[in-house]
Amino acid sequence: MNKIHIVSNRLPLSIAQADDGFSFTPSVGGLATGMRSIYKEFGGQWIGWSGIPSDDLSEDQLNEIDERLVDENCKAVHLSSEEINLYYEGFSNNVIWPLFHYFAQYIEYNVDYWEAYKKVNQRFADQVLEVADEGDTIWVHDYQLLLVPQMIREKKPGVTIGFFLHIPFPSLEVFRILPWRKELITGMLGADLIGFHTYDYERHFFSSVRRLLGYEVSFNQIHMEDRIILGDAFPMGIDYDKFKSKAEEVFRKSLPEKSELHKELEKYFLMSPDRKLILSIDRLDYTKGIPNRIRAFEYFLEKYPEYRNKVTLIMLVVPSRAEVEQYKLLKSEIDELVGRINGRFGLINYTPIWYFYRSLPFDNLIELYSSSDVALVTPVRDGMNLVAKEYIASRVNQTGVMVISEMAGVAKELGEAIIINPNNEPEIADAIHQALMMPLDEQRQRMRILQQRISRYDVFKWAAEFVAALKKVQAIQRNFL
Ligand code: UDP
Ligand code: G6P
Repeated sequence: MNKIHIVSNRLPLSIAQADDGFSFTPSVGGLATGMRSIYKEFGGQWIGWSGIPSDDLSEDQLNEIDERLVDENCKAVHLSSEEINLYYEGFSNNVIWPLFHYFAQYIEYNVDYWEAYKKVNQRFADQVLEVADEGDTIWVHDYQLLLVPQMIREKKPGVTIGFFLHIPFPSLEVFRILPWRKELITGMLGADLIGFHTYDYERHFFSSVRRLLGYEVSFNQIHMEDRIILGDAFPMGIDYDKFKSKAEEVFRKSLPEKSELHKELEKYFLMSPDRKLILSIDRLDYTKGIPNRIRAFEYFLEKYPEYRNKVTLIMLVVPSRAEVEQYKLLKSEIDELVGRINGRFGLINYTPIWYFYRSLPFDNLIELYSSSDVALVTPVRDGMNLVAKEYIASRVNQTGVMVISEMAGVAKELGEAIIINPNNEPEIADAIHQALMMPLDEQRQRMRILQQRISRYDVFKWAAEFVAALKKVQAIQRNFL
């Protein structure tokens, strides 16, 4: 049977050294949480980095990791500390990530990063070539592996290759800044189908292909000398039923069965109807608009003093890319802002911002989603933002208000949410006020529509449509030849 293999920088499990051996924990981020629900059905392997530097490990330890991953249908690409530094932190997260999110001022132009990126992409491609048979499908994911499609095609033209970009593709005027712009899109064009979260990203990609490489693009087909490639928008969904059923389970639990976190939340918020809870969950990343959100919350407490002592913002900030300079700076900025606001508005029994710098297990995430009156999602740029969809799926009684940034891909699907510009702090403050004032009937009306939409196009539908489009492109290519 022809299989589908997944390739991404990070495996669904991240491995770290623990006191008694290795710990295997679920990876965070939209790519891992979304794909985790579907990849086993494809019958192939998931090829990716284990998350741990290989030069700290003995041969036996590397074998131990490999064997453990076999049970998960995963195959590790082992990277040394230097490769992690240059390819992952360097080119992927100090060049492509800032550029594609319109933070060009953060880019570090460094030829060593580029050389390492090419070398490591080739390592990923070689692993794929070992695993894949002629006739198989390879589905490559995200910005860390833009060169992999072309590298696979050169050696094994008989496989079908899909590529999905989980982050925005920037406008040509931004993309062209990069010295290696042509090499990157040429790498992507090794795929037969290239998917984006939104039509805007797709359009930006087509402009770059047309202007930088001179290929003709008609509708969503790119005409190369010997092939036709399809580009399309596939807004990624979530495993809706998993969130919904877990939220129902949490809802039904009796008091003694509840987690400590849930008991705290109930005691402080659900039992006191005039206390309200606003939630935000993101990786610690400058694209997520965390400082703007905190300042907007401060402005809200200034402008609407009647809500002081009543409204709390819970911010779950998940540690991410902590070795990259900009992330370290952001961490200090957030710590300072939270300290300032809690100092300014806090009382003996009131802390305006509950700030957790850690990741939480799935059950606790659901408890947060289902206990919060408002979700405040304010990225300055975000490819999609699955957290917004997860909040919607977890609202069992259909109450709750979603405040979403227009700069997140997901905003295109959330017309019934309150949509804000993340740079407009007064507007966010007013949106918080509007959300807190919204009558329950109106909340339910809006939430019902959002739930219907998000449940219909879940992650299974998303993957099925991508795979169906890959079959379609094979048919188009056969006619072309
Ligand atoms: N998440 C997680 N553990 C946590 C907090 C969040 O696994 O402690 C997950 C969350 O459920 C979501 C993902 O991380 O699926 C974040 O995805 P999103 O698309 O919102 O942003 P990304 O991190 O991919 O930029
Ligand atoms: C985003 C990216 C993913 C990445 C995730 C977590 O979702 O699109 O490719 O895996 O962030 O980031 P990390 O650098 O920890 O893998």
